[in-house]
Amino acid sequence: MNINNILFWLLLPYFILASSSSSSFCNHHDTSALLLFKNSFTLNTSLYNSLYYYSPWLHDSSFYSKTESWKNGTDCCEWEGVTCDTISGHVIGLDLSFSNLQGQLHPNSTIFSLRHLQQLDLSLNDFSGSSLSSAIGDLVNLMHLNLLYSQISGDIPSTISHLSKLLSLQLGGDQRMRVDPYTWTKLIQNATNLRELYLEGVDMSSIGGSSLSLLTNLSSSLISLILGDTKLQGNLSSDILSLPNLQTLSLSDNEDLGGELPKSNWSTPLSDLCLSHTAFSGNIPDSIGHLKSLKGLYMGSCNFDGLIPSSLFNLTQLSSIDLSINKLVGPIPYWCYSLPSLFELYLSNNYLTGSIGEFSSYSLKYLSLSNNKLQGNFPNSIFELQNLTHLWLSSTDLSGHLDFHQFSKFKNLNYLDLSQNSLLSINFDSTADYYQFAKFKNLKYLDLSQNSLLSINFDSTADYFLPPILQSLYLSSCNINSFPKFIAPLQNLIQLDLSHNSIRGSIPQWFHEKLLHSWNNISYIDLSFNKLQGDLPIPPNGIEYFLVSNNELAGNIPSAMCNASSLKILNLAQNNLTGHIPQCLETFPSLWALDLQKNNLYGNIPANFSKGNALETIKLNGNQLDGQLPRCLAHCTNLEVLDLADNNIEDTFPHWLESLQELQVLSLRSNKFHGVITCFGAKHPFPRLRIFDVSNNNFSGPLPASYIKNFQGMVSVNDSQTGLKYMGNDSSYNDSVVVVMKGQYKELKRILTIFTTIDLSNNMFEGELPKVIGELHSLTGLNLSHNAITGTIPRSLGYLRNLEWLDLSWNQLKGEIPVALINLNFLAMLNLSQNQFEGIIPIGGQFNTFGNDSYAGNPMLCGFPLSKSCNKDEDWPPHSTFQLEESGFGWKAVAVGYACGFLFGMLLGYNVFMTGKPQWLGRLVEGVLN
Ligand SMILES: *[C@@H]1O[C@H](CO)[C@@H](O)[C@H](O)[C@H]1NC(C)=O
Ligand SMILES: *[C@@H]1O[C@H](CO)[C@@H](O)[C@H](O)[C@H]1NC(C)=O
Ligand SMILES: *[C@@H]1O[C@H](CO)[C@@H](O)[C@H](O)[C@H]1NC(C)=O
Ligand SMILES: *[C@@H]1O[C@H](CO)[C@@H](O)[C@H](O)[C@H]1NC(C)=O
Ligand SMILES: *[C@@H]1O[C@H](CO)[C@@H](O)[C@H](O)[C@H]1NC(C)=O
Ligand SMILES: *[C@@H]1O[C@H](CO)[C@@H](O)[C@H](O)[C@H]1NC(C)=O
Repeated sequence: MNINNILFWLLLPYFILASSSSSSFCNHHDTSALLLFKNSFTLNTSLYNSLYYYSPWLHDSSFYSKTESWKNGTDCCEWEGVTCDTISGHVIGLDLSFSNLQGQLHPNSTIFSLRHLQQLDLSLNDFSGSSLSSAIGDLVNLMHLNLLYSQISGDIPSTISHLSKLLSLQLGGDQRMRVDPYTWTKLIQNATNLRELYLEGVDMSSIGGSSLSLLTNLSSSLISLILGDTKLQGNLSSDILSLPNLQTLSLSDNEDLGGELPKSNWSTPLSDLCLSHTAFSGNIPDSIGHLKSLKGLYMGSCNFDGLIPSSLFNLTQLSSIDLSINKLVGPIPYWCYSLPSLFELYLSNNYLTGSIGEFSSYSLKYLSLSNNKLQGNFPNSIFELQNLTHLWLSSTDLSGHLDFHQFSKFKNLNYLDLSQNSLLSINFDSTADYYQFAKFKNLKYLDLSQNSLLSINFDSTADYFLPPILQSLYLSSCNINSFPKFIAPLQNLIQLDLSHNSIRGSIPQWFHEKLLHSWNNISYIDLSFNKLQGDLPIPPNGIEYFLVSNNELAGNIPSAMCNASSLKILNLAQNNLTGHIPQCLETFPSLWALDLQKNNLYGNIPANFSKGNALETIKLNGNQLDGQLPRCLAHCTNLEVLDLADNNIEDTFPHWLESLQELQVLSLRSNKFHGVITCFGAKHPFPRLRIFDVSNNNFSGPLPASYIKNFQGMVSVNDSQTGLKYMGNDSSYNDSVVVVMKGQYKELKRILTIFTTIDLSNNMFEGELPKVIGELHSLTGLNLSHNAITGTIPRSLGYLRNLEWLDLSWNQLKGEIPVALINLNFLAMLNLSQNQFEGIIPIGGQFNTFGNDSYAGNPMLCGFPLSKSCNKDEDWPPHSTFQLEESGFGWKAVAVGYACGFLFGMLLGYNVFMTGKPQWLGRLVEGVLN
């Protein structure tokens, strides 16, 4: 929303030059310059289609080909977009915004010969990545230059500083242009009348704080300053925020730009302040109450903490407040609800507490208080906000009864999110209560998911109680136990979530038919985690998300599925589907997650992966697939997760996948793979691999040292600085994978990007353990058990400081257990049994916590915990040699202690909160860390 506002300002027509007079005749030179300019481009009348995603308010109708009216032999002053000086006949203004121009803007373009130009607007055209020629500096009379969203890239030429008369300069928007400190300095020093400077999206990363402060030279002129998404970094001096004439300031989307708000002397005419998605921090000072003209305050996704200041109450013009996703504490000040012009209030995702209070700001249209610790009863005064169209109250601690009879007052309500309110009893006592919903005549979005006190169970005659206009219905975890008939009348359904209920039996016929014939716009269906039986519903053409996993659906995957070629996620996992995998699935151009795991599918994996496909996740594990792997899997260049475990695939190691740059998880566990694993020849094979599981196959030969030494993804431990992250980019699908962790199978519902394991167990590997394994510093688990590995344990294993489990059992290893292993402070499981180790078991660190089982079947070992004691004369290993070098170690040890693995603890924590939505989940995990 904020971004759109900014765009709106950017593209607002901002001036009108003196209009041409019919008495003037166009200068000849200018006529032919314009005609040649026109002829150097083609007209692309579908330009809108490639630009529309910048902003939903851009309309096709905004675009039209102005130059079509330009004809040789007519007066150019009459042409569309051209303005002439009435006396001299020179072209002084050219507005070709939205004009469908396509082609290169060459340095020799005749446009640069129009020396009298005062206004040049070429925004929203397609100059195909041309760079801006230094000839722009020849147009020294320019007062207004607008090249926004025109596909111009590269450096802003230093000659731009010749344009000393500029009043407004607007560059950037789409492709990255760059500005260097020299050009920036000269421009700001020379164009001293600049009133509007819009550089949205321009790369300003080389502009340091002091260069930026030059803007204070423009303090008497500058009115609008838009520097959003410019890669500015460091700490912004508060001079910029206090510029005395500034009305509009945006620094949004600069994640590395910090700063604090001025604590005093902040009475400027600022009307829109946009700092969203920056690292601004500190309190919101009382001084903000001096910005009497403030209308829009957009400071979502920053690091502000402290209370919401009461001085904001004085700003009676405020219409938009966005303070969501910060660290604000304390109660919501009551004044928030009485600001006379308040139109939107976003306070979600903070640590706000207390009760909500009484509302009297009747102009409110958007209200978001989700993900706070709000307590007390659901406020009835909310029902008086008759203009409210959007209400987000998800995940609060509100309690009491929600009276749906009151809801009928919300005549304009369009969007209602009451999900995750486990204390609120939403009164659905009788069927009559359901019918209250029908009174929301404008309701398009309803989310009642995860309300444990809510139980949507009613007799099957209750059918018409949702407004027919409804488009999105989320009823996940609502204790529903039969297929709800009230969905049938919803003609406009786009999104439907009935997951995590206990709906039994087969899917009713009407649902199959609606899906195929009535719901033409449906794009999202989630029926997963129920007890549905019978045939798989057929997703219609146009659908993007189809999730029916964890049911009891049976039969084949029908070929009619091939119509759903716009699918992005297809999740049929954990059903009882049988037959072959339809070939067409692999050709869907947008499909990024294909999850068919744990069914009874058989036959080959179809050899149909097309070049340029979008697949990031392929999970076919837990079926009865056989044959060889299709070599065209290498076409999946975006692949991150490939899980083929638990099938009957018979092939050699797919070294031809080693060039996949994004692959992070490769599991071939429990198949019939065989042969030696060797590198194919890529310089950096599997550069991002984090989970490598080829256990339970028939691989032979030496351990794949050539790969191990190249697993770049397992070398560095840097994620701890940026916080824990999970794989995947879409909240509707989590990448999960089964790994053997500490000796037990475990399904990771989401994959932490710091989770790295190698499992080569149960094969016929032989030879020695390669030393390079010690370089995989981020490795959390290593399982090499049940092979025929010989030699000794290399000391370098002591460098695997993140290791939580190590299984070398059932091999032919010999020699002493290296004392260096006591450095493994997170090691929670160790199995060295059934080898030929000898000598004393190291003492110290985690080694004090392992039991006899870790060492069984090594008759020549002695010392704790074994009952066999060692020769007293032998020296105890000196501990001091193995002191910890990393300074970052301390906090981890303090946080978890010796006995429990750090990551393991995190994962357990995660499983508990797994059903949560990402925002609060992230916060919980963060909380655990801090
Ligand atoms: C415009 O027309 C004149 C006379 O017909 C011709 O000489 C000139 O080359 C034309 N200019 C362009 C740019 O076509
Ligand atoms: C301008 O330069 C481009 C490429 O350098 C060339 O193709 C084109 O013919 C030139 N146009 C004129 C009018 O000289
Ligand atoms: C400043 O502007 C003047 C007038 O256009 C120009 O002559 C001069 O070269 C400019 N200076 C710089 C450093 O660009
Ligand atoms: C807010 O207004 C009140 C009364 O008009 C005034 O006393 C107070 O100082 C103002 N606060 C700020 C921060 O401007
Ligand atoms: C409610 O919305 C209507 C229509 O947009 C508007 O005319 C009216 O002023 C609004 N009410 C308030 C209290 O702002
Ligand atoms: C799965 O389908 C097979 C037949 O294809 C049937 O024998 C089996 O009982 C089904 N399993 C479940 C859990 O429904």
